[in-house]
Amino acid sequence: MNKDGILKEAAENALQNSYSPYSKIKVAAAILTESGNIFTGVNIENSSYSLTVCAERNAIAAAITSGEREWIKMIIVTDSKLVNSPCGSCRQVIYEFNKNLSIDFYGPEGYYNNFNISKLLPEGFEL
Ligand code: THU
Repeated sequence: MNKDGILKEAAENALQNSYSPYSKIKVAAAILTESGNIFTGVNIENSSYSLTVCAERNAIAAAITSGEREWIKMIIVTDSKLVNSPCGSCRQVIYEFNKNLSIDFYGPEGYYNNFNISKLLPEGFEL
């Protein structure tokens, strides 16, 4: 299997661990880093709804915690037709680390899209 296939499989395997009892929407993200390592995250919801953290930001937290700031690509998978691109907060957090990241998005029933963060967040905020 090529690296993209391995990355997608990592996200698909993580999907079952999504903690989403409120929305019932599962999302998982996987990041491939320059060193060839893969970091995954899932959405983690909370009864105080606004404390929910998206899959993308949890994958980013895992990569950054391991000192991996150079990323090649991100893959997002979801079981819901209602989710079809990363939310605005995740766009800004992705942009902090890679202003040109390629993001593959896979939804149910064969839905696929590829985004570049530069298109998803034009003129993103930076200090
Ligand atoms: N969610 C993500 O994990 N990533 C996104 O890009 C969009 C939304 C999660 C948050 C919440 O648990 C559920 O999907 C519904 O919004």
